[in-house]
Amino acid sequence: MKKISLTGIKPTGTPHLGNYLGAIRPALELTQEYQAYYFIADYHALTTVHNSAELRESIYKVAATWLALGLNPEESHFYKQSDIPEIFELNWILSCFTPKGFMNRAHAYKDMVAKNQSEGQDVDFGVNMGIYSYPSLMSSDILMFRSHVVPVGKDQKQHIEFARDVAQRINNHYGRDLLVVPEAIIRDETDLIPGLDGRKMSKSYDNTIEIFLKPKALKKKIGRIVTNSQGIEEAKDPDTCNVFALYKLFATAEQSTALAERYRAGGLGWGHAKAELLEVVDATFAEARERYYAYLDNTAELDKILAHGAAKVRPLAQKVLAEIRDAIGIP
Ligand code: ADP
Ligand code: TRP
Repeated sequence: MKKISLTGIKPTGTPHLGNYLGAIRPALELTQEYQAYYFIADYHALTTVHNSAELRESIYKVAATWLALGLNPEESHFYKQSDIPEIFELNWILSCFTPKGFMNRAHAYKDMVAKNQSEGQDVDFGVNMGIYSYPSLMSSDILMFRSHVVPVGKDQKQHIEFARDVAQRINNHYGRDLLVVPEAIIRDETDLIPGLDGRKMSKSYDNTIEIFLKPKALKKKIGRIVTNSQGIEEAKDPDTCNVFALYKLFATAEQSTALAERYRAGGLGWGHAKAELLEVVDATFAEARERYYAYLDNTAELDKILAHGAAKVRPLAQKVLAEIRDAIGIP
């Protein structure tokens, strides 16, 4: 039996190159080696997205993104979190084994508290219970399907540690391996994809390049990448350049070496470097982009694929939950 790999993406906007390189591509690469589970963490998105049209649209965008980039819903398991009610029942069980102090230490919550403190607000200003107990629901996503590995970005490491901890607590308490203790798979080489301004690419910094921008919009976005004020003739350092940092993630090794030489030789302007980047990014996604917009034009098809995925995984969730209920004494 192949081991299980599982990962989820929160539908909170339009997926960008950081999501692709840091989360989607590494996860899709595990399809052969593992039984792969990919899901849309829509109830996680509800912790911050309270606009129904926006949430609905983001769910379709994330679904279309996975499928356009090569997720095969027959070969792997592809579903929406909200379609598996067992996850929410398990979440309650897990929360009864999670020390409250643990949630106090969760990064996302701690960051909000620190921001409130620095702004002289009440510590819990803007914190809803969904945000507070976010790591517990994420543990439930993972433990529900007895996942062995969870490919995620570095920022999610602490969440996987929470999932491991609660699984171990429950296993120790009931004296048997009810839950699988998962391992994170984190890749160092893509843990911090830089955005337009050189900081981590993130929706929160408004510095993203969306994966499926059409060529004209993509050109405009790439035009916004921050560079220094060196003139065309000056020799340039590829290793401190935001354009080159992205280029090498999409180009072949030969292409990267060649462009680095042109940087160092002088005579290459920022406009030229950006044109090279545009070309490799556009070539990488041209075909997938067609598929992406075709899916977005056919949301009934997306609904069908996700319903099929839910029907496939729900019996597994029901089986695991029945075993856990039995172990804890809920007939
Ligand atoms: P955002 O910061 O834009 O809101 P998310 O937090 O929704 O992005 O990230 C979803 C997934 O994509 C996570 O697994 C995260 O680790 C990964 N990811 C996001 N931004 C980057 C980045 N700049 N570099 C590497 N991985 C990223
Ligand atoms: N918290 C993850 C993120 O923000 C999304 C997520 C929810 C997830 N549940 C998960 C990732 C389970 C991996 C496994 O990116």
